[in-house]
Amino acid sequence: MARILITSAIPYINGIKHLGNLVGSQLPADLFARYMRARGHEVMFICATDEHGTPAELAAAKAGQPVADYCAEMHGVQAEIARGFRLSFDHFGRSSSPRNHVLTQHFAGRLADNGLIREVTEQMIYSVDDGRFLPDRYVEGTCPNCGYESARGDQCDNCTKQLDPTDLISPRSTISGSTKLELRETKHLYLMQRNLRDKLEAWIDSKHDWPLLTTSIAKKWLNDGDGLQDRGITRDLHWGIPVRRGDQPWPGMEGKVFYVWFDAPIEYIAATAEWADANGLDDAAWQRWWRTDMGADDVTYYQFMGKDNVPFHTLSFPATILGSGEPWKLVDYLKSFNYLNYDGGQFSTSRGRGVFMDQALSILPPDYWRWWLLSHAPESSDAEFTWENFQGSVNKDLADVLGNLVSRVTKFATAKFGGEVPAGGSFGPMETALIADLGARIREYETLMQAMEVRKAAAELRAIWVIGNEYLQAAAPWTVVKTDPEQAQAMVRLALNLIRVYAILSQPFIPDASATMMAAMGSDDWTWPDDLPAAMRQLEPGQAFAVPENLFRKITDEERADWQSRFAGVRT
Ligand code: 2FM
Ligand code: ZN
Repeated sequence: MARILITSAIPYINGIKHLGNLVGSQLPADLFARYMRARGHEVMFICATDEHGTPAELAAAKAGQPVADYCAEMHGVQAEIARGFRLSFDHFGRSSSPRNHVLTQHFAGRLADNGLIREVTEQMIYSVDDGRFLPDRYVEGTCPNCGYESARGDQCDNCTKQLDPTDLISPRSTISGSTKLELRETKHLYLMQRNLRDKLEAWIDSKHDWPLLTTSIAKKWLNDGDGLQDRGITRDLHWGIPVRRGDQPWPGMEGKVFYVWFDAPIEYIAATAEWADANGLDDAAWQRWWRTDMGADDVTYYQFMGKDNVPFHTLSFPATILGSGEPWKLVDYLKSFNYLNYDGGQFSTSRGRGVFMDQALSILPPDYWRWWLLSHAPESSDAEFTWENFQGSVNKDLADVLGNLVSRVTKFATAKFGGEVPAGGSFGPMETALIADLGARIREYETLMQAMEVRKAAAELRAIWVIGNEYLQAAAPWTVVKTDPEQAQAMVRLALNLIRVYAILSQPFIPDASATMMAAMGSDDWTWPDDLPAAMRQLEPGQAFAVPENLFRKITDEERADWQSRFAGVRT
């Protein structure tokens, strides 16, 4: 049994996430966590809300709420929706937690002790009318790169270029719209990442098995222009983790907070400590996941995220960890995703474009979305959600292939042999061939799941469902029963066992349907079918089973058209 630590990029607190966010981090991380647990490994799966920075402050102001209240409320909303999608976090933490305050200040103190922090006095945009500095998203203006007029101070939404507020042409305050802006001096802390460049490069170069998407982004940032830049890790904001040097004040930095991207990844560690607190465990319980001097040297750590997060996880966060000089766990494997687009354009939170997680659950159960999103995960390139494609996948893969098999077998078996697994006959050449074929496919499925090849794993699972249908088609127990009822009983017994095995194999993708299938087979034995011939005989003659309620229903053309027009506009 291995020990597997899994973190998903932590979603910003400002509002409900769309399906593109979901498929880029939380959902594939959940798939992997569920699979690893199913294989008997010890898993710690961590996520949280990212509660600091200008996105949180601006969203709270828009909602007319104090920022702490807004974050508490939105954390509850996001946690509820995560449950709705069956995301199986061991803990869903909050980056504003006391644990994260202490850890973030601890890391800053260690970096300073190791000579990796310098104080920089610089000119920042100050709004005279608002009486404050305007970092990051507090300022908007025209992008110097593409001319987009609503570029934000940290990034242009149109061309994705990372910006500094002072880069913007015709800047204005997003609080008041005021253009009475001037440059004023302020002091900030910079993390001296350049000093860690060689260490970071050697570490990245040692990761031979990382996906090309991950290493190419990391390398680009290491080598672009003058190479890795030192990075400001503090801001003139009220909401955030106060700047302290460990448990000591930081002279000259009073009233300032750490930059959201400094504290957010530290929350992976803090959320594991929050998990221990929530379960009444001591510090050793979470440290054995994170401190190599406390038992974490046998942990394998996997991170999941969208491609825009890769630089922060391959360079900035490792710089914090390496720079601390303490034995914290570094990521072993970083799985990153391209973007999911929506019906000919981009999903966009700020523009309210696309389908958001709560909306998705309001029209269909989670398994429908999980299946489509995972089987179309944007791995090798960007992918696109269209309602036609969604309807096609659900109706064919889930309803026709899997749902139909379960329904046909259980209904036929009930009609002919009552609600119990029939005892007659024994497996013949067709059944033996199916078991052999299935066994080979399951080994391939395991390889793909282990490698986090999400799309290919989904295709393999579908192929596993298809060979069951092909077997039934060829074996035709409904015909055989007329001439050789004993043999028909053996076929039905095999098919009922197949449904239980499908429940186990499919559970990481479609947990609700899998639970329904398992319950219908009157079993709660989720043992992975390492020994397939035995697994295919697990349900014994006489064992009661039921016909499950319609496992998947089809999406009609009318529904598709209705949803297409309902979700064509902008969410306000
Ligand atoms: O892009 C985002 O949604 C960020 N909130 C991700 C942060 S991941 C990590 F640093 F915690
Ligand atoms: Zn631009």
